[in-house]
Amino acid sequence: MNVLVDKQELKDSASLDRRDHHQPSERLIGRLISCTGSRGVISTSATNLSGTTADFWSIGRLISINIGETRIVGIVYEMNTSSDLWSDTVANIIYVKVELVGEISDTPTGPAFRRGITSYPHLGAIAHRIRASDLQAVYRVGHGVPVEIGKLSQDPSIPAAVNINDMLSRHFAVVGTTGVGKSSAVSILLRSAISVKPNLRVLILDPHNEYTSAFPDISVTIDASTLELPFWMFKLEEFVEVVFRGRKPSDGETDILRDMIALAKARYNSGGGVSSTLIKRPLAFDNGGMTADMPVPYRMSDLLKLIDDTLGKLDPGHDRTDLRMLKNRLDSLCHDPRFKFMFTKSTIEDNLDRVVSTIFRIPRTDRPITVFQLAGLPSEVVNSVASVLARMAFDLAMMSHGAYEILLLCEEAHRYVPQDPKLGFVPTRLAIARIAKEGRKYGAYLGMVTQRPGELDPTILSQCSTLFAMRLANEHDQEIIRSAIADSSASTISFLSSIGNREAIAFGEAIPTPMRMKFLFQNKENLPKTASGIAEVDRTSDASTVNLRALIARMRGADPEALA
Ligand SMILES: Nc1ncnc2c1ncn2[C@@H]1O[C@H](COP(=O)(O)OP(=O)(O)OP(=O)(O)O)[C@@H](O)[C@H]1O
Ligand SMILES: [Mg+2]
Repeated sequence: MNVLVDKQELKDSASLDRRDHHQPSERLIGRLISCTGSRGVISTSATNLSGTTADFWSIGRLISINIGETRIVGIVYEMNTSSDLWSDTVANIIYVKVELVGEISDTPTGPAFRRGITSYPHLGAIAHRIRASDLQAVYRVGHGVPVEIGKLSQDPSIPAAVNINDMLSRHFAVVGTTGVGKSSAVSILLRSAISVKPNLRVLILDPHNEYTSAFPDISVTIDASTLELPFWMFKLEEFVEVVFRGRKPSDGETDILRDMIALAKARYNSGGGVSSTLIKRPLAFDNGGMTADMPVPYRMSDLLKLIDDTLGKLDPGHDRTDLRMLKNRLDSLCHDPRFKFMFTKSTIEDNLDRVVSTIFRIPRTDRPITVFQLAGLPSEVVNSVASVLARMAFDLAMMSHGAYEILLLCEEAHRYVPQDPKLGFVPTRLAIARIAKEGRKYGAYLGMVTQRPGELDPTILSQCSTLFAMRLANEHDQEIIRSAIADSSASTISFLSSIGNREAIAFGEAIPTPMRMKFLFQNKENLPKTASGIAEVDRTSDASTVNLRALIARMRGADPEALA
């Protein structure tokens, strides 16, 4: 590494390549002194790096290496001085390590970029600042409708664009430590997606009740008081999760529900009432082949009556204590105001129409986004609700034969699909995995947002083909993202721990080349924020002025406005 660059030579060659003749040449060009298959080292000299020129040789920047017909594009990933010292008076020799990402050739329509290197640069080749037109060519979205979501960090005059179709259809993820701007980025991405895809419907699982404010004009909000998901839409496992409140039921308890729900469904399907003959016969033969998981409605009254009748039998075939407990539990659930969303009084048929049209904004709507404020829901049902919604999203996209495309956006995605298979709720995991694996064929897409990619199921993360990696402090999380990048551009994210707020390294299907970008600045009105009255911290009150009565009333679900 002791090849020193002749300063005069550098100046001479700079004058050939340099576009801005006022810039000191020594800072703007260097010479290639080493090259492996995918990487190179450039030697240059500098007396002082400051101002805009300091930006030139800095991590994450693209530079170009001139080899005559074409220009090789490299990304700076490491820099050091030859002496490990810095002098303010004499020129310092610096080594700039770059990863070679592709090459640019001039065509009649302007510069064109191609990934990969066909002819390698020779030693001594001149490296210099990349031209703006070359930079644009590197990040030009070649097909589809490119949508601007931000600006390049390297040159804020150049838009950072993504191909929305590719981003959606191969799923995407936004990862980054808390407060870096993930939710704000998601709001930009969703607005862009809606603008180019009128038949897209978006379901946001919003655990912090923050997205309503980001889309006041194009979303509807469903919260604990307006949610309607009839109990019969829940699969057995999902229903069990609600009924037993997250505790693992005994086999006996699950068996009762399985048998009784199948009977109640058979009863609904046959259009009659619960006859005593039905339950006198052995249960296995009573349900007409119906299972508890078939997508057929049933009535809660039938289910309760079936349990009652079974209890009254000489040999109920189930543990009496289990039967009694289950009946009590169902009874109290039906009357618990927090579970009103599952046990509404309206008729089953009306219900389904309304549920589908409210949740999925079908048939037509100018508000294609549905925000599910999960913060107000009992925590033990959040998992089940997420599972039902993910399942419905997939089924509906599939059944509409492409008429509707549905994006399920999961904030805090690691809650639903955690890395540890023992955590999380199996049906939610399965429903999300199904969209991840097969959704693309039918128009069901995933958007995963998480602070902790290391805690997210790696198979789900690997299905997200476009990744917006924002600042990540945790080494393990960085490692996960590094391994998620298939190609050699791993050094692109070597600086992931130090990028600024709103900045992201975007890579994958929707972006031609990994790019360091800054999301567009959003006005306050378009930013996600916590819904007022639910979790917002009131900085004006202190412990001595808290109104306990109002606090308790609020815990009981009273309207905060009415309390004022
Ligand atoms: N694109 C943007 N335009 C303007 N301000 C932004 C933008 N992105 C982030 N911010 C600012 O940063 C703050 C935090 O952003 P945001 O809530 O999106 O972060 P986050 O990564 O989602 O955080 P958390 O992990 O806590 O959910 C915002 O309240 C806003 O003030
Ligand atoms: Mg957020």
